[in-house]
Amino acid sequence: MKRILTVCLGNICRSPMAEGILQQKITERKLVAEVDSAGTSNYHIGEGPDHRAIDAMRQHQIDISSLTARQFIREDYDRFDLILAMDVDNYNNILALSRNEKDKEKVKLVLNYLPEPDAPESVPDPYFGERDGFAYVYELLDRAIDGVLDEHFGTQ
Ligand code: 4NP
Repeated sequence: MKRILTVCLGNICRSPMAEGILQQKITERKLVAEVDSAGTSNYHIGEGPDHRAIDAMRQHQIDISSLTARQFIREDYDRFDLILAMDVDNYNNILALSRNEKDKEKVKLVLNYLPEPDAPESVPDPYFGERDGFAYVYELLDRAIDGVLDEHFGTQ
């Protein structure tokens, strides 16, 4: 079974949204996989997702309200096969905790799975912005995660 971890800074906006989208698509495609999310910071440990993230996901019939923020730890390299970073800063912070090449190979930027060559590298942090930032995060992640599943599980 494949185990996938999504990672951002706070684990209350982007990575729980990515977790919810992944979970929904895994169920839709009848795949066998486990998903979780984490943040590289300790800012919001124990909190639920930002209400704006919950609302944006509700627009797409996905409920992430029961998720709880936690911090990324080195042992996550043992628990997960694929670690999807939401942006370049977090990608670097995750890699800083790697122990060897095998760990490093597990870490990918989620937007590298978008098909267009001029796609952005990082999912913009919506936390300090307007509500429509969350709709944009959804739109980017929805397409990127199709790419993740196509690459790692085949199009089926
Ligand atoms: P996230 O968003 O990394 O997508 O969960 C943020 C949440 C909180 C903060 C920054 C980004 N913060 O600075 O508290």
